Amino acid sequence: MKVMITGIVGTIGTIVADHIQNDHEVHGVDLRESDRPNTTQIDLADSADELAKTFEGVDVVLHLAADRRHEPWISWNELMRPNIIATANVYTAAHKAGVRRVVFASSMHAVGGYELIEPYASIVNGNYEGIDRNKVELVKGLGQDAKPDSEYSASKVFGESLGKYFAEFEEMEGLVIRVGTVHPNNKPGADPRSWVSYFSRNDIPGYFRACIEKKDVSYDILYGSSNNDWKVYDTPYAFNYLGFQPSDNAENHRGSPATPNDAPGTIDWK
Ligand SMILES: NC(=O)c1ccc[n+]([C@@H]2O[C@H](COP(=O)([O-])OP(=O)(O)OC[C@H]3O[C@@H](n4cnc5c(N)ncnc54)[C@H](O)[C@@H]3O)[C@@H](O)[C@H]2O)c1
Repeated sequence: MKVMITGIVGTIGTIVADHIQNDHEVHGVDLRESDRPNTTQIDLADSADELAKTFEGVDVVLHLAADRRHEPWISWNELMRPNIIATANVYTAAHKAGVRRVVFASSMHAVGGYELIEPYASIVNGNYEGIDRNKVELVKGLGQDAKPDSEYSASKVFGESLGKYFAEFEEMEGLVIRVGTVHPNNKPGADPRSWVSYFSRNDIPGYFRACIEKKDVSYDILYGSSNNDWKVYDTPYAFNYLGFQPSDNAENHRGSPATPNDAPGTIDWK
């Protein structure tokens, strides 16, 4: 298949492109320059028409490009072009170019409002006493309202709704992945929430490969993380749907957690 990865120079883009490049014709676009083959330096917010030319012949777009900072001080000034206009352009261009599927990287923060409600609040704060983790009713993807916890998260819900629109009215296939947390040193632990959201670099490649290769997709919302014992979101549904079983579990790192300096927010986005 011809696969176009937006944000290919970023953390997840690089991991996925390296993993699938022997089996698929991988192309990429990014704001940043790269010497990776078939990669074009482009601002996705500039023009949907130009982008449609870049997307010609593409089977699947994996849309990862974004400003992924979700700190409270990140406002629409920062988010409007990379997360709203660029995402609108990607879907419009994909439709115009006849792309079959868009896989969109959303975030668990699109439903972060559930983390204010028990028992989720206790779990993400690391207070496990009295909670039987096998009896927690997990937050679903489809069929449950989004509850964005920041402007960044609301920008992700915008992208999710575009996927649904193009799937329902324009016959495109759409997969939304509410991605957990990718840690710089590949270990959870700097904040208690990461024991729920931890998405290891060993599991990312196979998970996204399955999103690209899965047959019979119309539209769905999946949670992406490793197979962590403490869950809030319905990752088992995603693993079953994708036919992919992660090999990692945050609990395997309890003995050697990350330090505060390893927190995801410390990555220099640019
Ligand atoms: N890394 C995580 O922990 C995490 C968690 C939840 C969701 N996500 C989502 O997953 C996706 C990928 O995350 P990542 O960690 O690889 O991010 P990243 O910041 O490492 O990479 C994003 C890439 O997108 C590019 N980009 C941004 N705006 C662009 C534009 N207008 N035009 C072209 N390229 C542009 C950047 O140059 C960068 O290379 C993002 O959408 C992010 O919101 C990531």
